[in-house]
Amino acid sequence: MSDILRMERLEGLYAEALKAAENSYAPYSNFRVGAAVLLTDGRVVTGTNVENVSYGLTVCAERSAIARAVIENGPKIRVAAVAVANLNGATCPPCGMCRQVLKEFMDADGDVLFPFEGVMKRARLDEILPFAFDADLKKTVTK
Ligand code: THU
Repeated sequence: MSDILRMERLEGLYAEALKAAENSYAPYSNFRVGAAVLLTDGRVVTGTNVENVSYGLTVCAERSAIARAVIENGPKIRVAAVAVANLNGATCPPCGMCRQVLKEFMDADGDVLFPFEGVMKRARLDEILPFAFDADLKKTVTK
């Protein structure tokens, strides 16, 4: 895919993320976030943040999109790109926990799109998550 086509696709993905943010459940922070993941087969799956009165139980938009993508498409999904948006016009890169969860399903050169200081930032996953945890747990032994 040409880079121009790819950028158009990513802008569309951002629009989907923004639409998803409309369904956000964020009565505690009022920070309404949406995420859209583009699967390698072209399908788009969205998610939103779902907060809880026990604050730590909150699920971010990116992780709800990933969970939904697996629920709807099965365990073999691969994510080519993810866009994050919010209704507050704020800078909003994925949080650390979401970066690690995205890594499970994305290659290192996958696109991550997010609002940053008033502009749309496009980064590779490995730029925002260097030295990711990726141990081969089947090969580790207890000593
Ligand atoms: N949030 C997300 O949905 N994604 C992120 O990557 C960062 C934070 C949500 C969690 C919480 O509902 C609100 O934003 C404020 O932290």
